[in-house]
Amino acid sequence: MEVEPPQSLKKPLVVVEKTMMGPGPSNYPQRVIDALGKQVMGHLHKETCEIMDDIKEGIQYIFQTKNEITMCVSASGHGGMDATMCNLLEENDVALFGATGHWGHRAADMAKRYGADVRILESELGKALSVDEIKSAIELHKPVIFFLAHCDSSTGVVQSYLGDIGLICRKHNVIFIVDTVASLGGIDFLMDEWKIDVAYTGSQKCLGAPPGITPISLNDRAMFKITSRKSPVKVYYWDFILIATYWKCFPSEQRIYHHTISVTLLYGLREALAIMAEEGLQSSIRRHTSCSFKLQQGVEKMGLEMFVKLPFHRASTVNAIKVPEGVDWTKVSDYAMNKYKLEISGGLGPTKGKVWRIGLLGLNASSEKVDLVLKILKESIENTSDFIFVDKSKM
Ligand code: GLV
Repeated sequence: MEVEPPQSLKKPLVVVEKTMMGPGPSNYPQRVIDALGKQVMGHLHKETCEIMDDIKEGIQYIFQTKNEITMCVSASGHGGMDATMCNLLEENDVALFGATGHWGHRAADMAKRYGADVRILESELGKALSVDEIKSAIELHKPVIFFLAHCDSSTGVVQSYLGDIGLICRKHNVIFIVDTVASLGGIDFLMDEWKIDVAYTGSQKCLGAPPGITPISLNDRAMFKITSRKSPVKVYYWDFILIATYWKCFPSEQRIYHHTISVTLLYGLREALAIMAEEGLQSSIRRHTSCSFKLQQGVEKMGLEMFVKLPFHRASTVNAIKVPEGVDWTKVSDYAMNKYKLEISGGLGPTKGKVWRIGLLGLNASSEKVDLVLKILKESIENTSDFIFVDKSKM
């Protein structure tokens, strides 16, 4: 053998405890950490299947849906997005993407790769789309699917009125897909009531589970689109019918082997869902909302500005703060990380260099963490720039 065992692997594993207050992953609750440390079981063992059944019910709860096809894709939220595009779209299908930041464009990029005829409805940066804008775009483009990110984590914009948009999609026979990666558990979401056909979320945000496993749910309309495809789903690994059969979503079908799921990730997700169920969805949403409100007040009191001007367009989960003129955002984030091991992220896509993003997600949506992040942000700015703090709320 010409390749020697690497020296690097002779050193012990280094994992630094950090306070994860970017747009995710968020810190794990201890109960999730304990679950992740448990011994592996087989991906088709009876006990694993029971855990999968528990998870399915937990996902139905957090999405507020009775959909039979409720399961996980073995991949991060990105994989949930890619798998959704792969299953729901065929060559030349017209696909309309609402973009309130980065994620509409990312989904559109994926859709193009599956041969869709992509159209984009872009909001003014830092604003949500209006129902009228969406209605007009749907009437104009007559798409097969309409995609929206509930919270766009690059801008911190929340897209409200999903129920009105769901009705418009139904009326025009459009499949309505909502990405709830950065919102679910922190912002109201009612999948069935709002007539949302496909929704997926991120395990590593409000749920506080590891990334790499993506809860997803599809209703009958979405499944009909898939079962009436003229061509097979292009990626075997993403095939929702096969994944749903593995998850025993079709009561009359036997469970099949599709892939070797990470049973360890299932343990973590199961416990994260159990914690959410114990707290209650409404209480979790209230907690995220009140923490974000406190953070916004603190930011303004400090003389900084929220990136999203209109308070009702602001997500409570990912909060974007404008980087003031003359301040180097990287120095501030680096200071917070080096001195306090606290993550404050920079912008993404259209907000790169323009904002810091503070995630109040899961465990980190607490009043104490808001105080901590505000204190560290202030100190980091003071120590890395000449910025003068003026309490604008008193002006
Ligand atoms: C990831 O979700 C990000 O917003 O950076």
